[in-house]
Amino acid sequence: MTRKRTAILISGRGSNMRSLIEAASAPSYPAEIVLVLSNRPEAEGLGVAKELGIATAAVDHKIHAGRENFEASLQVLLELHRVELICLAGFMRLLTPSFVRLWEGRMINIHPALLPAYRGLHTHERALADGAKIHGCTVHFVVPAMDEGPVIAQAAVAIVDGDTPETLARRVLAEEHILYPAALAAVASGRIKLVGDRVVREDPEQDPHFLPGGS
Ligand code: GAR
Repeated sequence: MTRKRTAILISGRGSNMRSLIEAASAPSYPAEIVLVLSNRPEAEGLGVAKELGIATAAVDHKIHAGRENFEASLQVLLELHRVELICLAGFMRLLTPSFVRLWEGRMINIHPALLPAYRGLHTHERALADGAKIHGCTVHFVVPAMDEGPVIAQAAVAIVDGDTPETLARRVLAEEHILYPAALAAVASGRIKLVGDRVVREDPEQDPHFLPGGS
């Protein structure tokens, strides 16, 4: 088995990044994390990745003139490390349609809501304010529109009385840490593919599109 050379793009804490790196430390895992990139040099996750022995680089969007320049720098590093797949993990920069098209079917993202509900920021606050009873997280292929794109898998989290954005975020994050490594494994092994604008799964039993979640 050739493991897919995978980069993780982060902007902050990097807890999803850590869960992917830990899953990929098993030799049988179909993806190998070869690079962690951050648009914020001060991102906490960069230090975590270094400690875990992964190559890291900061590509500071603030010192690049425009998104195209910033993405050209990202692309140079991705090519240098012969990256085949990209995981966005709390990467908070919008990517241009041309960069997204370059990586079509090879770039995935995790979002802390059950898409298409609650795209964008403050998903937990908004779900609570709406009185939603079920919330969760989604891994999807990246398309030019933010937090859209064909869904690979989702995990659900029940909202309980007394939940605050913090308690809910904690339970959703625990599910993210299970869902993302499972989704990356399915994509890296080729069991789940983007065909046109549809997700095709070889074996729905091995790769269910919905995890009821543990909470
Ligand atoms: C995660 O909850 C992730 O789903 C979210 O940012 C957090 C990053 O945490 N991503 C988005 O909101 C993208 N739209 P982490 O840095 O600890 O993985």
